[in-house]
Amino acid sequence: IKREKIKDILSSTEFNRETTVMGWVKTFRNNQFIALNDGSCMSNLQVVVDFANTPEEVLKKITTGAAISASGKLVESLGKGQKCEIKADSVQILGESDPEKFPLQPKKHSLEFLREIAHLRFRTNTFNAIFKVRNALSFAIHQFFNERGFVYLHTPIITASDAEGAGEMFRVTTLPFDDTPRTDSGEVDFKEDFFGRSANLTVSGQLEGELGAMALGEIYTFGPTFRAENSNTTRHLAEFWMIEPEVAFADLEDNMNLAEDLLKYVIRYAMDKCPDELAFLANRLAEEEKSKPQNQRSELDLMSKLNFCLENDFERVTYTEAIHILKHSKPNQKKQFKYLVEDWGVDLQSEHERYLVEKHFKKPVILTDYPADIKAFYMRMNEPDADGRKTVRAMDILFPGIGEMVGGSQREERLEKLQQRMQEMHIPEEELYWYLDTRRFGSAPHAGFGLGFERLVLFVTGMTNIRDVIPFPRFPKNAEF
Ligand code: 4AD
Ligand code: MG
Repeated sequence: IKREKIKDILSSTEFNRETTVMGWVKTFRNNQFIALNDGSCMSNLQVVVDFANTPEEVLKKITTGAAISASGKLVESLGKGQKCEIKADSVQILGESDPEKFPLQPKKHSLEFLREIAHLRFRTNTFNAIFKVRNALSFAIHQFFNERGFVYLHTPIITASDAEGAGEMFRVTTLPFDDTPRTDSGEVDFKEDFFGRSANLTVSGQLEGELGAMALGEIYTFGPTFRAENSNTTRHLAEFWMIEPEVAFADLEDNMNLAEDLLKYVIRYAMDKCPDELAFLANRLAEEEKSKPQNQRSELDLMSKLNFCLENDFERVTYTEAIHILKHSKPNQKKQFKYLVEDWGVDLQSEHERYLVEKHFKKPVILTDYPADIKAFYMRMNEPDADGRKTVRAMDILFPGIGEMVGGSQREERLEKLQQRMQEMHIPEEELYWYLDTRRFGSAPHAGFGLGFERLVLFVTGMTNIRDVIPFPRFPKNAEF
């Protein structure tokens, strides 16, 4: 089909030529002016209909949401706010849209409403912008790693392991709901199942990624991961995309540098490649801020926030230092914490993370060396501190407005220490013999992290609900299409 994209037409300087455009009608005014959008950009193209020579039948069907094809001359526009328009000799209806039933009206809809019609929200400028930025970020990630010689390793979606040891897996089974085979003791007999054992959707590609890194040197995964955590929040999804690099001969310091470089690189890339989309989203955010009471408005607009992140080093602090800061935060602030941080060893709540990032340091923070007891089994054990407290070489990167964006660590490469940790955490060795083999045969220091892709998209787009930055969000009680 021969047609020109609206994006190309709007940047064209060659007027008085014939062209054909196709797109969806945003508005139709005075039986004459169509605002047409074809998805190639957020701007609409004005198509001027020759209503005297266009059949009544066709005019009637030019309604918001309808798909049309228009052919005619591209001319410079006399109207305000547009450079050019098409004087259409002919308009064809490709697909009608009943204006009584089409839920998207030519006006601003709330995000809540758009979430309810998630299958149609792609047609709005907001979601056009978000998914273009998402696409740019995704491309930038591959570019970043490939420029550095990392190998993109496809780790499995279906796996038997629980990489995080948190038991938040979705089970994959072909066993019938009724008549499930059971062992003599009444447990489900997975030997009868497709894989001959129980299997689940991956929560992280890390463990398999480590196998790759311990041979290829530097790898990354970028794929969907699944968590059956029942958290109905604006930061959690049941299906989210994660970027997980894993690097041999690297320690926590290298890991932090890699993560900071990656984040800055991809944010800069999106700013370079999506100026129109980000300007639109910045404007959307500014409008939203205006409707808030003065004292709740954010100090920085979207662009300044992104620039600020590029221009400053992330703050690197240990967990122990962070607890000290929280304990000594101003009493009036502390009173607002729902959960008090009285004891070393507790996991930080999101309000503590927010305080550190948004109030105390006012920039991205890398928290390191968490208590061993609140972290996964594979993290490298530090020497106990002067008070005998055990920490691991973990790092979490916290971002303003987002909280945890990255979780990673230097890995425990010493076989005995790893076995001891697994025992303490009741993780059977037989289950992970293949993982332990990397420590048996040519073990080496290595490190890696997981970057939650949707949380990155949230930060860059200035959106506030994670369900708005993935095309098909999966969350409790929601898996329609
Ligand atoms: O901190 P997490 O659980 O770390 C891991 O899975 C490690 N195996 C990663 C590694 O070292 N290779 O998850 C990593 C990141 C989090 O920091 C967060 O950004 C994101 O993944 N994340 C989620 N994003 C959306 N919805 C959820 N339910 C998420 N759970 C984690
Ligand atoms: Mg984490």
